[in-house]
Amino acid sequence: MQRENWTSKLGFILAASGSAIGLGNIWRFPFVAGTNGGAIFLFIYLVAIIFIGYPVLISEMTIGRKTERNPVGAFKKLAPDTPWWLVGALGVIAGFVILSYYSVVAGWGLFYMLESVTGLAPGTDFADLFVGHISSTYSPLFWHFVFMFLTVSVIGAGVVNGIQRVVKVLMPILFVLLVVLIFRSLTLEGAGAGLEFYLSPDFSQISLQTFNDAISQAFFTLSLGMGAMITYGSYLSQDESITDSAGYVLGFDTGIAVLSGFAIFPAVFAFGLDPAAGPGLTFITLPAVFSQMPLGGFFGFLFFALLSIAALTSAISLLEVVVAYLVDEFEYPRKKTSYIIGFIIFLVGIPPLLGYSALSDFSFLGMDVLDTYDWIANFILLPTGGMLTAIFIGHYWGTDKAVEEANRNSMKVKVGNIYSLLIKYVVPVAIFVIMALTIYQTVTG
Ligand code: PFF
Repeated sequence: MQRENWTSKLGFILAASGSAIGLGNIWRFPFVAGTNGGAIFLFIYLVAIIFIGYPVLISEMTIGRKTERNPVGAFKKLAPDTPWWLVGALGVIAGFVILSYYSVVAGWGLFYMLESVTGLAPGTDFADLFVGHISSTYSPLFWHFVFMFLTVSVIGAGVVNGIQRVVKVLMPILFVLLVVLIFRSLTLEGAGAGLEFYLSPDFSQISLQTFNDAISQAFFTLSLGMGAMITYGSYLSQDESITDSAGYVLGFDTGIAVLSGFAIFPAVFAFGLDPAAGPGLTFITLPAVFSQMPLGGFFGFLFFALLSIAALTSAISLLEVVVAYLVDEFEYPRKKTSYIIGFIIFLVGIPPLLGYSALSDFSFLGMDVLDTYDWIANFILLPTGGMLTAIFIGHYWGTDKAVEEANRNSMKVKVGNIYSLLIKYVVPVAIFVIMALTIYQTVTG
């Protein structure tokens, strides 16, 4: 069967940016930054994005475009009769795990979108509202189902008619919504304290955890370490440049994460709330913020619409990794495969969903089911995938071949020795050391 290609460079850039920009930017980044001291985290995160994220992003897109295959097929093609394909397989598994809980969180976003229209009354106890919602069964289940259904419908329609068509409409809307929200946040009285927290680093807050969180956040936010960018790169036409496109994707993703901090922290401080509230920042602290501002229901609706849109354009890339694998390798029909896999992922998402009700006794290293899935994906699967991809290019396939493929048709950016050095040594060593130290610290408690 003929494989599809994005019909333009813009289509690819928007799709890859859509994958990158997601809950990671709007939900995860602000709360991880909030619990890690704000500005100091922002600084280390930017270093991780440039020195680890960017070279891995280029590497994944290069492997994809060179082979025009899904992650498993791609490694098989470049390294036939070796176990390297297992790196691709790890990615397909990560796609399953991440999408299953990602959809649960995105479902909370859909719920809050409607809730904003009707129920953000001042004086509401928003912690109660949130806990009440996630610890009920049917409502989160319903929204998880709706979100998976939307994701599956896009992927079932194909690369051009599904993914590309949707991102071309949704990505500009996302950007406009964010600009409106930042304007609202920065013009609130008392916004300055939030800016201070976000922009002046306090070096005493650095710990191993800060580095670990920064690296995992870099992988998660750029959709790296599980072959999503291999898959999207595999639909990029041979005439387009990888390094130029990757620059845009990196710029947009980082820009939106940094900007969402500008939408969130000034507002949180303006109302005297806690920036270090953790995962509840988006779902407890922000509704409290919206309830106290004029037209808060409207701005709340905009915010959760933004969150849901960002989540959808990322979720489709997670599902595409799994579907592309099955369609490429076994020639299964795309539509049927998308629906069946989507349904299985919906089921895999039920344990994290029930982690706040029927399965609330579950605990792994003190984490609930959803945090456990998130931990397995972000601290184990993605960094391992990224490290192995770097080792593959740096020490098996060869950086010279990767550089040649990445630079083909480039008009603006070209990579060379620095890229090779980062991929061969810096990326694998940094990830290995930080993972090893973290595991040591976790085990020794
Ligand atoms: N990059 C997405 C986000 O920031 O929300 C999450 C993600 C999508 C991770 C796709 C991995 C992936 F393959």
